[in-house]
Amino acid sequence: MRKVGLLTGGGDAPGLNGIIESTVRVLNNQGVEVIGICDGFEGVFEGRHKILKSSEMVGAHTLAGTLLGTSNKSRVAGREDEFVQQIEKMGIEGLLFAGGDGTFEALSRVQSRVKLIGVPKTIDNDLQGTDQTFGFDTACAVVAESVDALRATADAHSRVMIVETMGRTAGWIALGGGLAAYSDAILIPERPFDRTELLNFIKQKQKSMRGLLITVSEGCRAAGEEASVAFKVANSPQQERFGGFAQSLARWIEDSTGWESRHVVLGHLQRSRHPTTMDRFLTLSMGVELAKMVKEQAWGQAVIYRDGKIKRAPIVDMMKPARLVPQNHEWVRMAQDLGLFI
Ligand code: F6P
Repeated sequence: MRKVGLLTGGGDAPGLNGIIESTVRVLNNQGVEVIGICDGFEGVFEGRHKILKSSEMVGAHTLAGTLLGTSNKSRVAGREDEFVQQIEKMGIEGLLFAGGDGTFEALSRVQSRVKLIGVPKTIDNDLQGTDQTFGFDTACAVVAESVDALRATADAHSRVMIVETMGRTAGWIALGGGLAAYSDAILIPERPFDRTELLNFIKQKQKSMRGLLITVSEGCRAAGEEASVAFKVANSPQQERFGGFAQSLARWIEDSTGWESRHVVLGHLQRSRHPTTMDRFLTLSMGVELAKMVKEQAWGQAVIYRDGKIKRAPIVDMMKPARLVPQNHEWVRMAQDLGLFI
């Protein structure tokens, strides 16, 4: 009987359980056994794994998180031999994984010795090689619902409400979620803002609006300034964790305009949410493709979403620098057409 491993690595993203359910269901139908590895690379090094049965997967696709557990702490660098030995011990033919840039980079170190098929994953939507990562649509939905909801409080109190999103160095979540909610201003890392211009915009709005909504990406910054790093996580592929920008912006706006301001940090609520229909379709079709690739022994590739279709691409395509929002992206132009500050 053919046997493959399945691992989820890095931060959780809505849709991971969809990948697990669809892959296991199709592979089991093909007579392939799936060994689920617990807690990402930690489970490989510590030999923690379990057989995944399609009968036990029913309904998993609706759940946030990952049934396998994940981790963005352990690294493969310097432990490549140990990693390969552990994979061999498991008796699996190859390893399927869903992960972000850190997971792809780590596994690229063993790709000549371990058969791999990957699925790009991150709510940040910043992976190269694919047009959209699963989890992103759900994160945008959380942001849009929050901005829409907070407009009530902004109007009730006549306040500026600032909503901080995740996204690291990419502004996709703030832009997608902020635009869907017609946020009055959207600040993203790719477009460092001019403080004077922002203040003029706010003062202008202060004349006619009771409340104002500003959506900011955690990694954004004013021109000539640095992004705000909240803390660092040792051993993480990207150690810096951004945070604190919305709070300082709220104080600055209130001090500069007299318009009472508050901030809300959405944080991990953007990840810990059941997936949207879009993310369900994405993961369902990616899982089906993943299983097809196992059948065809199409190792060394990743399942991607490009030009509205599920496709395959070399694993190395996912390992390029973060995919940032282009200056002339249609969402930027639409925000400008709507008169939003961006
Ligand atoms: O990369 C996904 C992401 O959610 C980023 O948007 C965020 O900056 C980071 O992970 C948070 O990581 P952690 O779960 O370690 O706090």
